[in-house]
Amino acid sequence: MTSIHVDRLTITYGDNTVISDMDLTVRDGEFFTLLGPSGCGKTTLLRTIAGFIAPASGRISFGDRDVTDVPTHRRNIGMMFQDYALFPDKTVAANVAYGLKARKTPRAEIASRVAEALERVGMESFASRHPGALSGGQRQRVALARALVIRPSVLLMDEPLSALDTKLRLQIRESIMDLQRELGITTVFVTHDQEEALAMSDRIALFRAGDIEQLGSPSEIYRVPVSSYAADFIGAANVLRVTVPAASAGEAGESITVALGNTSLRGLRRTELAAGEAFVIARPEHLRLLPAGGIVGEGVSAVAGEVVRQQYLGHRQQHRVRLADGTEIETSESASSRGFAAGERVAVLFPEHETLVMAS
Ligand SMILES: Nc1ncnc2c1ncn2[C@@H]1O[C@H](COP(=O)(O)OP(=O)(O)O)[C@@H](O)[C@H]1O
Ligand SMILES: [Mg+2]
Repeated sequence: MTSIHVDRLTITYGDNTVISDMDLTVRDGEFFTLLGPSGCGKTTLLRTIAGFIAPASGRISFGDRDVTDVPTHRRNIGMMFQDYALFPDKTVAANVAYGLKARKTPRAEIASRVAEALERVGMESFASRHPGALSGGQRQRVALARALVIRPSVLLMDEPLSALDTKLRLQIRESIMDLQRELGITTVFVTHDQEEALAMSDRIALFRAGDIEQLGSPSEIYRVPVSSYAADFIGAANVLRVTVPAASAGEAGESITVALGNTSLRGLRRTELAAGEAFVIARPEHLRLLPAGGIVGEGVSAVAGEVVRQQYLGHRQQHRVRLADGTEIETSESASSRGFAAGERVAVLFPEHETLVMAS
């Protein structure tokens, strides 16, 4: 198996520098996701790893092998794209066989490996069909078989689930995860869908305009975002402007008191903080509501507000609460907890350990 090393990589289109001086390591056997909004450079990086784009500078290695100047067909990669990219005039079996033929694999071996690959993705009974006679999900299963049949050292996937409807997307997602783990193939997966990234990945690189904003496991990125951008992109987050009373040095994870309007709020610092404006990040599911004037426990700050909206979702209920200065806060509680109607005065409870204070 193979790790991937990206070393001081810069990628440009003409005068436009999309990726600048990037370092990145994908571990052997890892399911690694490039996540970020449209236009942030995910496809550009993936295509450069594949060898379709030559970098302006920097190196790419697979394990110890420097592949920067190696053409795509010699990198031993399997690929999957959003638009299937199957040959319409070839049968399913011929599509899957294509990469093996190109490698001059003996005929008998091609036949048995194609059959095995189609069986792995549950498409063995469709071998003689043409792609035009398949559903989107079936085409993507064929594309997966085609990517895996060559026994690639690296699997590269660019939004392979985006064109599928929800139910199929979940099914193909599971097939990809099962096969990737079973075969232990080092995988780089591109998506703009944060839930997909959380569900599938060993680690995620969250992109922001060509840079990596944060790199970590799904739970690290969700639970300890490094910035309001990261918190906001991954899952729902309340991003509140607060004031730091005085410049205070301290370690990440130490508690700090900040001002949210006239209320003081206790949280954990994530970054260096200067006096003045900063941000508090709190996930809706970490906040609780009490009737105004209720008794607040230890380690929790209470912020007064008025419910402007309540939504019942069956398994959850959500409230939107407006503070005196107009700031709105979203909360999400289990459906069995007490609900509050629009107009009721409440206290929003912020647990210190789930209230993150950061500079930007
Ligand atoms: N072939 C190209 N020529 C010039 N600019 C491009 C080309 N492909 C992408 N870009 C630009 O590079 C940036 C990153 O694009 P891309 O890697 O496709 O982003 P993503 O996959 O994250 O949506 C965008 O600003 C895009 O317009
Ligand atoms: Mg893209």
